[in-house]
Amino acid sequence: MLKRMYFKRTRSNNRFNRYFYFVNIIFTFIVLISLVIKVASAVKREDFKTCADSSFCQRNRVYADKVSSNSSFISPYNLIENSINIKDGVLSGEIINIENNVHFILELNLLTTDSARIRINEKYPLKPRYEEVQNFALVNEPSNTLIYTVLPSKDGLTSISFGNEGKQKVIVYHSPFRVEFLFNDVPVVTLNDRGFFNFEHLRKKGDSSSFVDQSNVENNVNLNKNKDEDNNNDKNDDGDKEEEEEKGLWEETFNGKLDSKPNGPESIGLDISFPGFSHVYGIPEHASTLSLKETRGGSEGAYTEPYRLYNLDVFEYELDNPMALYGSIPFMMAHRKGASAAILWLNAAETWIDITKNKEDKHGLSGFLNFGKSTTTTNTHWVSESGIIDIFIFLGPTTSDIHYQYGLLTGFTTMPQYFAISYHQCRWNYLNQDDVLEVDEGFDKYDIPYDVIWLDIEHTDNKKYLTWDNAKFPDPIKMQNNIALKGRKMVTIVDPHLKRDDDFILYKEALDLDLFIKGSDGQVYDAWCWPGSSSWPDFTNPKACEWWSKKFTLDQYNGSTESLFIWNDMNEPAVFSGPEITFPKDIIQHDGWEHRDSHNIYGLSYHAATFSGLMNRKNPPHRPFILSRSFFAGSQRYGAIWTGDNMAKWDHLAASLPMLLTIGISGLPFSGADVGGFFGNPEPELLVRWYQAGAFQPFFRAHAHIDTKRREPWIAGSPYTRYIRDAVRERYALLPLWYTLFYETSITGKPIIRPMFEVYPDEEEGFAIEDQYFVGDSLLVKPVVNQGQTSIEVYLSGDELYYDYYNFQRIQGSNKVIKVDAPLNKIPVFIHGGSIISRRQRIRRSSAGMRLDPFTLLVALNKKGEAKGTLYLDDGETYEFEKGNYVYRQFIFTSGKLTSKSLSSDNSNLYSQTISSVLRVERIIIIGLDKKPSKIFAYNNSNPSLKQELEFKFGGIGTTINSFTTPSSKDVLVIKNPKLFITEDWTVQF
Ligand code: GLC
Repeated sequence: MLKRMYFKRTRSNNRFNRYFYFVNIIFTFIVLISLVIKVASAVKREDFKTCADSSFCQRNRVYADKVSSNSSFISPYNLIENSINIKDGVLSGEIINIENNVHFILELNLLTTDSARIRINEKYPLKPRYEEVQNFALVNEPSNTLIYTVLPSKDGLTSISFGNEGKQKVIVYHSPFRVEFLFNDVPVVTLNDRGFFNFEHLRKKGDSSSFVDQSNVENNVNLNKNKDEDNNNDKNDDGDKEEEEEKGLWEETFNGKLDSKPNGPESIGLDISFPGFSHVYGIPEHASTLSLKETRGGSEGAYTEPYRLYNLDVFEYELDNPMALYGSIPFMMAHRKGASAAILWLNAAETWIDITKNKEDKHGLSGFLNFGKSTTTTNTHWVSESGIIDIFIFLGPTTSDIHYQYGLLTGFTTMPQYFAISYHQCRWNYLNQDDVLEVDEGFDKYDIPYDVIWLDIEHTDNKKYLTWDNAKFPDPIKMQNNIALKGRKMVTIVDPHLKRDDDFILYKEALDLDLFIKGSDGQVYDAWCWPGSSSWPDFTNPKACEWWSKKFTLDQYNGSTESLFIWNDMNEPAVFSGPEITFPKDIIQHDGWEHRDSHNIYGLSYHAATFSGLMNRKNPPHRPFILSRSFFAGSQRYGAIWTGDNMAKWDHLAASLPMLLTIGISGLPFSGADVGGFFGNPEPELLVRWYQAGAFQPFFRAHAHIDTKRREPWIAGSPYTRYIRDAVRERYALLPLWYTLFYETSITGKPIIRPMFEVYPDEEEGFAIEDQYFVGDSLLVKPVVNQGQTSIEVYLSGDELYYDYYNFQRIQGSNKVIKVDAPLNKIPVFIHGGSIISRRQRIRRSSAGMRLDPFTLLVALNKKGEAKGTLYLDDGETYEFEKGNYVYRQFIFTSGKLTSKSLSSDNSNLYSQTISSVLRVERIIIIGLDKKPSKIFAYNNSNPSLKQELEFKFGGIGTTINSFTTPSSKDVLVIKNPKLFITEDWTVQF
């Protein structure tokens, strides 16, 4: 923590007063000593809890151990048979814990989306338990399906088939209570199969009787007959008393900081298994593997700590580690050949997840089937500190179905402006207005395109956000307008902590309007962040959001223009003086809820409020762009996220791949990592390799810590600057592909960069591959992440053709590893046979300048000699596309014909009209043809008789296709200027 403050705060502020100067010296001394003591590991692990430091995690792990080690154990939770009611797609009932007679309400909703939801809450809680997380994460109340069949009842269980094709089934076992979800009669997700279900009911300290539902005591006695009564009779009160004496139930201390825990123990725990699945994915954010590791009793390399979800600002985070990072998405997906299933554990409190893999065929209560080759079952154990059990189960059956089902529930990615998917230049900090303009000009001088320049915290007046340091930035409007003249934008940082300074209007207003979070003592919470003493508005309070959302209009945010966008940082929230560098759990938020209940949605709620702020800036609004560090399920509705403070090291570059893939498949495709690495100075080779990777990732921004050396692309010098330029230019050439993929994810939920199993779901060899991925379905990318590497092995999935991105050389796939050259000027990228990619070859200073440029269609044939692809276009700024003002085309090559047809219902919409006579195809390249066609004709589909013969070259000699080389492969066909327009339906016939 001190080290963090030294690096991140004290060094950054050049307006430090004398007091801080001395404090600084002391810090420096302490830091140096601590560095000497602890050279090997940079992260201060001791700042963060392990499961053993978190009493509820430990209690639930101990419970799980007790259950597993006792073969005669039977879960004490029973569903009371005569309470079961099935109506309008909902099974409701009452569960009793026969050990202490606590009653719970069960609600199982069968949803229209081939998914289900299960909620379990106390029937008579001492006070309400937190459920508000759904208001932040979900887009609306999911609808129950009316298409279901209650199957003939059998003793002790209820089964219902549901789903649009009736292939989904749920079996609810009554005593003990457990649930099995099946697809095509094969179980895919089970709950409480291992008996770890453990619901800590609210209680008064020292009193365990108040929660008992006396009206049902008789009932309970009958239900107890399954259990050994002698065993239970004496247990109730004594057991609870014993528990109360346990450490951590009513208060706990970590690193000298007390958590007062006014509600005592209130955790929930449940085991969720994925029978027959060896791989599970998701639950970001961790610097971990794509296919999640075992966390208990696993083989070498497995973890011993559970994966933790608790949004934290972790300084110099460690790799290959289940420690919590900045964001949390409690979504987990299991995939195997032929089936996929997923769950969302809707809870915003601190959560831990243990994962184990069971390689036997038959185990647990359900005695799973033998799944042939893959008999591994992945068992998971979820534990949250508070809230209720609220789980969505997505039954696929494909990963695409799951992404769509999840998107319908939590929302799809907001459509970004065109500039936002281009290249961003950031640094902590561009010093002043002149510096900004110089950097801006540098890009022009070195002929490197870029779209956005960013300002970090030093641009403000003493870290008072939404203000400017007038000495450094005397005329921010002029500065932004200068940049905007080149079609470029600017981003400023706006953090959620407000400096406690009566002259700071935002602080004063929030104080007067009573919008700040309160400490456990009821006073406005006051703690330490960049500006020193700060307070935090409560964005779970609608009034605070409303207030905040008015602060971004041009008259409110002085010095802002319409080309200014926002960066929300430190929103875990980061609190330098807080426990684990965040809020204490017992501070008080809206409606009296403890922060404990909602910790993981603070970042999301702040991101959402800022989004409303940018929406209010213009009428009708332009699409906001906001980068957030913290996130939760649903953050995709508000913009991009990045992986926080990584390091300028090769292993951090490597780690960014599984991290981004994981975040993408968990419903948040717009993500990136700081290019170059935040801490430290990358050597030129690393910088080049990082640019090359970043150019093929959804959010592409270079960023660096204030203590690092300047590293704008031209500083590295020859040949590195040229290689960086090539990588950035390649991003610009492919912007039409990226924009199309963003549009498609905004309606399908599919990730933009996809692990192998998303594209080849039946190829088990690819299930754990995490160092290469597809962009959409059309490009296979394998970034080089090792120093000095000049050749690389790539796994080519499927019995399919691939083409070298540089020379179009044909490569046969068939699940094999090939070795390719990867000198420093080359990004190992392969065109997937069967794709049609739209490119723009004329690279200009920013994406705005390229919006009316013609397209090159790159047609890469598959084994059958076919290919297809899509192209989406709109104005790139507004929401007009929601009214149908866009162009969405499909290109198909089959049977010797390339056709273009519209995928939008209104082909003559306003946007389409504005571009119809402007946007044309200037070149068609076809790779993979076996022989030279004798003639090629093109015609407009509305008038096939008006054929026009096209000129072409076969052999591809002399045509520059991408920024790097000239294709030399002999089977390349190039049609120059086919005189075809993008908005028209046409055919090119061979
Ligand atoms: C945090 C951010 C980093 C930023 C710095 C100063 O460490 O993660 O990107 O530059 O704060 O604002």
